[in-house]
Amino acid sequence: MQDLSGRSVGRYRIVEKLGAGGMAVVYKAYDTRLERDVAVKLIRLEAFPPEVVEHMLKRFEREAKALARMDHPNIVPVYDYGEYEGAPYLVMRFVQGGTLKSRTGKPVHYQEAARLLVPIARALDFAHRQNIVHRDVKPANILLTTSGEPMLSDFGIAKILETGEAATLTGTGGGVGTPEYMAPEQWLNQISPQTDIYALGVVLYELVTGCKPYTADTPAGVLLKQASEPLPSPRNFVQDLPKAVEEVLYKALAKKPEERYLSMQDFAAALELLARGVAQGETATEMSSETPVATTQILEDSTVTLDDRASSLMPFLAQSASLPESPQHAVVPHAQQAKRKLSKWLLYGGLGIIGLCVLAGAIWAAINLFPALMANITQKTPLPSADLITPAAQMDTEDQPVATVPVEAAPSRDELKIAVLAPLSGAVPSFGVSTRDGVQMAIDEWNDRGGVLGKKIVPMVMDSQCAPDPAVQAIHAAIDDGVRFVIGEVCSVASIPVAEIANGAGVLQISPTSTNPGVTVDANGKTRAFVYRACFIDPYQGNVMARFAFDYLNVRSAFVLRDVENAYVVGLADSFAQSFSQMGGKVVGEAAYTAADTDFNTILGEVAAAKPEVIYLPDYYNIANLVGAQAKKRGIWVPFLGGDGWDSEDLDLKAVQGGYFTNHFAPEDPRGEVQEFVKKYTDRYHKPPDALAALAYDTANLMLIAIQKTGSDDPRQVAEMLQPMEFYGVTGAIRFDDQHNPQKSAVIMKVRDDGVHFEMIVNP
Ligand code: PHE
Repeated sequence: MQDLSGRSVGRYRIVEKLGAGGMAVVYKAYDTRLERDVAVKLIRLEAFPPEVVEHMLKRFEREAKALARMDHPNIVPVYDYGEYEGAPYLVMRFVQGGTLKSRTGKPVHYQEAARLLVPIARALDFAHRQNIVHRDVKPANILLTTSGEPMLSDFGIAKILETGEAATLTGTGGGVGTPEYMAPEQWLNQISPQTDIYALGVVLYELVTGCKPYTADTPAGVLLKQASEPLPSPRNFVQDLPKAVEEVLYKALAKKPEERYLSMQDFAAALELLARGVAQGETATEMSSETPVATTQILEDSTVTLDDRASSLMPFLAQSASLPESPQHAVVPHAQQAKRKLSKWLLYGGLGIIGLCVLAGAIWAAINLFPALMANITQKTPLPSADLITPAAQMDTEDQPVATVPVEAAPSRDELKIAVLAPLSGAVPSFGVSTRDGVQMAIDEWNDRGGVLGKKIVPMVMDSQCAPDPAVQAIHAAIDDGVRFVIGEVCSVASIPVAEIANGAGVLQISPTSTNPGVTVDANGKTRAFVYRACFIDPYQGNVMARFAFDYLNVRSAFVLRDVENAYVVGLADSFAQSFSQMGGKVVGEAAYTAADTDFNTILGEVAAAKPEVIYLPDYYNIANLVGAQAKKRGIWVPFLGGDGWDSEDLDLKAVQGGYFTNHFAPEDPRGEVQEFVKKYTDRYHKPPDALAALAYDTANLMLIAIQKTGSDDPRQVAEMLQPMEFYGVTGAIRFDDQHNPQKSAVIMKVRDDGVHFEMIVNP
């Protein structure tokens, strides 16, 4: 395939080739619409026989959609897919720091190896829960961000290409999986989560020992070994490798799928223990002196007072006297030193063992060639034998007790996970993107300053689709995963059922944007102790719009539209209608619809007949787009008024041109902290922040400050800390009332054909 550099593939301008495999070429490209770098993976059409191409394209499309829904911080996100001259392509995030392959070839300390693989195991577990098996886990598919964070890529590519592979590649000796990392049963096309466990086990083996367990000149040779040869003892390569590490390797690399870890979650838990140094023969003192440990562990000892970083936090911290003096914050003074120590250690460790792969390989060959010899050698040096595959049995015979690796998931001591429930798919995906990005930016800033309570903050972004069922599923999955802090959902209809669950489970939830009162207060009028929000509520928002219409637009008649199935829309419509009437205005007509409706002509006929001066349509932007466009088409130019749900880069400006909506934030706000935030955000994401991004940013800061001030990550204590707290964010000041609602002022935005513009601030 020719090099496409300089060409345009859809809206992506190809910059340069990054790499090429048998079936696909990966390019660095520039997304001209969103103005950011991306990676474009273009399938080589010529690698497939014509008969299978059509079928493959269909599969590709289906799989791309499944992949796009898979949102996990350690999975390279898929942004888009398309077709270029008949060949399908995937558009993914561009990750800059190389791949894990660069770390192979010489032994990496087992703790470091496990630390690198824990997030990958978690990502795979996340995928397995959605019935997606990766099938091609290997170092080359584990990308490293510039900060060294591992990210799994090429998700499901193997599955997508399966048809083509079956037809062509077996003949050429290729294979979709990579032979060295393929479980024995994968050759028989028996794919299960266990297949990925095996492959990740091979990666761990390779990192820890510096060698792949099975190599041969041909794929068939590798297959034979995977299926029949016992695992070469990792201690052949690293003599002082703790037994617990070997035990994990033997279990992950068991020949029979059912003898491996029962789930990726179990494997992840075992890796987490290894990452923390829970391995036989290593005492705590040993670990703290010479062995490399995660930077966050080192950081726990060093604290500085608030003054050192007060300036960067100032917008968010109460400047009033209610702020306790000098809270302690962990910082990173020794991080550099620690890193240097780490690489030195790796270098020495590496040098000492280099070359051993070859030697051990030779011994290994000898053993296999001369079985008689094997008996002799195994007596002297414990070399692999069949029963070693059942590690427990073997270990029991050793004199020293072995630290068992529990199967239960153990939350990592050095991480604070925050679930982010964001609608990344469904009717309003732009809400999800802004929310995710706003939270991510705040968390990155905290992590750059050393995290919270000495822990690294890890967002778990989950696609909750602005709908009750997926949101409920997401919160259950998060809780199962040990998460105790939740940001989200965006939409009230999703936040309400989540609130019920979070509150019951003692999990702290702050919704950045859900404005329906029923989020923080339950059906009996009782405030949920564990649920807060960072925005004003709908009775206020509806009232503000009524005031604006009555006092500033000077209108006296309005038509009100309601999605009767959406609590957010109903709440806003009701409060607007009530306030407007009380002021002396007249609601000259009302109409009901549901999200399933697409044809609004009948309703618009009623609107035209009622001759209102304004139409209140407090729904999400997708509905505003639909109704607005149909109205303009019919020649109805009465201005539409809306609520915060209109706030999206996907709002169709033409459809609701001339209208106004209430909102939480305007990038034009001249306050210094707002301008600083707008600049940072725009530099990073190449577009200005909307209200959701700003509220998400504030919410993450609010939550983390509360945790920091509490000095503990016990959600109950943090919730209690929040109640009286004062917080100044980019969306304004927060002080909670006894229903956990902040009183904030609203802004009115005007929709013009060239964009959405700040009109005025309305105070309560
Ligand atoms: N307030 C909306 C709700 O409660 C969500 C939303 C907020 C949407 C801000 C867009 C912008 O459902």
